[in-house]
Amino acid sequence: MSIAAMPSFPTGFRWGVSTSAYQIEGAAGTDGRGPSIWDTFADTPGRIADGSSGEIACDHYHRYPEDIALMADLGVSAYRFSVAWPRVQPTGSGAANPAGLDFYERLVDGLLDRGIDPVATLFHWDLPQALEDTGGWLNRDTADRFAEYADLVADRLGDRVRLWITLNEPFIHMSLGYGTGEHAPGRALLFDAFPVAHHQLLGHGLAVAALRARTAAPVAIANNYSPIRPAGDTPADLAAVAAYEALHNRLFTDPLLGRGYPTELGFDQSAVRDGDLAVIAAPLDVLGVNYYNPTAVRAAEPGSPLPFDLVPLQGYPRTAFDWPVAPEGLRELLGWLHGRYGADLPPIQITENGCAYDDLPDADGRVHDPDRIAYLDSHLRAVRAAIDDGVEVTGYFVWSLLDNWEWAEGFTKRFGLVHVDYPTQRRTPKSSYAWLREVIAAAERTPAR
Ligand code: FCB
Repeated sequence: MSIAAMPSFPTGFRWGVSTSAYQIEGAAGTDGRGPSIWDTFADTPGRIADGSSGEIACDHYHRYPEDIALMADLGVSAYRFSVAWPRVQPTGSGAANPAGLDFYERLVDGLLDRGIDPVATLFHWDLPQALEDTGGWLNRDTADRFAEYADLVADRLGDRVRLWITLNEPFIHMSLGYGTGEHAPGRALLFDAFPVAHHQLLGHGLAVAALRARTAAPVAIANNYSPIRPAGDTPADLAAVAAYEALHNRLFTDPLLGRGYPTELGFDQSAVRDGDLAVIAAPLDVLGVNYYNPTAVRAAEPGSPLPFDLVPLQGYPRTAFDWPVAPEGLRELLGWLHGRYGADLPPIQITENGCAYDDLPDADGRVHDPDRIAYLDSHLRAVRAAIDDGVEVTGYFVWSLLDNWEWAEGFTKRFGLVHVDYPTQRRTPKSSYAWLREVIAAAERTPAR
């Protein structure tokens, strides 16, 4: 993997790392934080692969100075973190908990001191449990609560956060949280989960307005995308591809970019009220793209409740999560966004990309992760190729800075550039960290058009 051969990136390209609150902070009961749906879910037997929770996670709440130092040493120009809504509003409504905001203020100021742009996601899936108790995102009121919460955070940090991201992956939150029940809050409503899409998008639009009233910083959303491949070539397989593409790639992006909801899925749209689509289509400054892998689908079996079946994509190396490694899918996806949305597409930042491998320290305590280097190298080349194809991509964030608590997988999946020994909380930069530091330093020495 020669760094010298890595193609150069445009001047001002943003190099970053991503994390989220519940996955790294720990301190679940500290400084007035209220319970979130993930505390409840993780406490439910059988929900998490190793029976763990994010109660301590990487203890980032207390160790953030060390983690900022790791980022400064890595040379990133930005850090994407999320704000835990239950720290700011322990019951999801009402006055702010000042101690919760104080933590994020310490974090943001610590980043700025080291020349790192704070990029704040407002919702990365950790809804206050009190809001779930009134219906969560099935309840339209949650969209209004989200805008109030956005206002409280922007009131404190609006002068220092450099990029705001309203929601993280509303598709994954809807589909795994409310569609299949694999994630919190653990509801299995299949297509009856559609109001969760609409209320998240409405909350996004209302939060954009709240943020604009407090700050001139750019505003984005981070969506998960996946190129869809047919597992067969019958007309029914191709129809399944179209249906899954409408669900995964268009359900959130079409309305955000002014095209309304895709109609093919036949959702009951009674949750959509007059004026909502205009709120949702508020102009965005950046589109956050989270990319991991393509998805293969085939026609559903007769009698299936869904119009497609998801199947393993054949013919690719796989990560420890069993996800296929397909960097060309990222170039394809960026080209698809560019082609489909044209002039309506804002500049893109890759807000997440990365891989899980079973990286463990060797006898000398070093952690070698050549598979991660190969993954990141190939995906960065795909980004560069997409830029050459004419797509405006202005940043790339690796998921993740640290090994962390991977939702229903608990601590069994390691995505970090930095290894975390959970019992001691010792951080050990992996070889991918050293590699990325060289890539960033080389890119900043020789920026290109
Ligand atoms: C994304 C999530 C992130 C992490 C990665 C592996 O879907 O946004 O929190 O779990 O996957």
